Amino acid sequence: MIEYSLKCIECGREYSKEDIYTCECGGLLEVSIKDADISFKLDGLLSGVWKYRSLLPIKIDPITLKEGNTPLYRCKKIEEILKKEGVNSEVYVKHEGANPSGSFKDRGMTVGVTKAIELDKKAVACASTGNTSASMAMYAAKAGIRAYVLLPAGKVALGKVAQALMHGAKVIGIRGNFDQALEIIREICKIEGFYLLNSVNPFRLEGQKTIAFEIADEIGVPDRVILPVGNAGNISAIYKGFKELVKFGLTDSIPKMTGIQAKGANPVFRAIIEGKKDIDPVKNPETVATAIRIGQPVNAKKAIRAIYESKGTAEEVSDEEIIDAQKILASLEGIGVEPASAASIAGLIKLAKEGVIENGEKIVCITTGHLLKDPETVIKVCGKPIEVDANVEAVRSVL
Ligand code: F0G
Repeated sequence: MIEYSLKCIECGREYSKEDIYTCECGGLLEVSIKDADISFKLDGLLSGVWKYRSLLPIKIDPITLKEGNTPLYRCKKIEEILKKEGVNSEVYVKHEGANPSGSFKDRGMTVGVTKAIELDKKAVACASTGNTSASMAMYAAKAGIRAYVLLPAGKVALGKVAQALMHGAKVIGIRGNFDQALEIIREICKIEGFYLLNSVNPFRLEGQKTIAFEIADEIGVPDRVILPVGNAGNISAIYKGFKELVKFGLTDSIPKMTGIQAKGANPVFRAIIEGKKDIDPVKNPETVATAIRIGQPVNAKKAIRAIYESKGTAEEVSDEEIIDAQKILASLEGIGVEPASAASIAGLIKLAKEGVIENGEKIVCITTGHLLKDPETVIKVCGKPIEVDANVEAVRSVL
């Protein structure tokens, strides 16, 4: 049994109805779990998101594609890079690109689409920089309901568009950015009765908190978790996961939540360095990491609270630092990620240089999406393969 309500993070008002996204005061909602019979153990035996079902607010059989249970790698070559900056630390990468659709969004969508079915919705919808749409389309296909996707036209990596299309979503590009797409789809969901599956949906974030559960399950609670921040849902979800483990007596510490943004899309970073509780939107966000090309993150207040409360921090990284980190991960550790995901490693290296990372810290970086999501950027930064005549000498001449 799990007892919960939706609670406003601003005014504290609680709702027992579930078919809402924000409070009447306009504040963000979160699932507040009052009581739960915990039926899992942190025994290191991962089996995916639904291992943690006793902390997930779902009443029916889940729509699942066996998401979660992603690999956690110890990264000694990255540790060596940090050593050169005078920092001795234990670095792990949790590779969320290994989820069924190739990003962490699957954890949220298995819960979010299941909630859509529970609420008897006939269609789901989202605005997306790509991964949310790919994942939502996949789970909607599994569930047998319609999916509507709004994208910033021309600004979404090809692999992600391909997924949304092939899984059968209605994909619409707008001549505008993600923030505008989100505003429009929120309005359309109201008019059409579609179930909104952006991260403003508190149930979706419940699935994503299982990243925290899996980390704690496998290696205990680390000192720091570093991840890219776009719409700011994931950092909020992971922080909530760690807090719930403490609340239910399963662990006794919270990692420093550390959010990394691209320089051209950095409102959360700016709020943190200026000591503010909310963001000033970035009007025309721009970065090679299109997944996090967001100027007005909808979950900013939750994320900023997570960072302050956990004594974490935020950092910004340039496109060049992002691509360098992507190459480091791929060529030194064998971990293929898309640019946004590499922001976590770029941020780690930068924070080590700045002396923010302390000696002895156990750190987990989340790599949020797979390399194959964005093949076009790879060709841009690595160049095309060499082409030669079809004979041994020609091949040997370029070895
Ligand atoms: N990394 C990747 C690969 C993403 O796709 C996203 C967000 C993030 C990081 C940031 O996570 O929004 O929770 O702070 N992508 C969304 C999308 C916006 O539409 O796919 P966040």
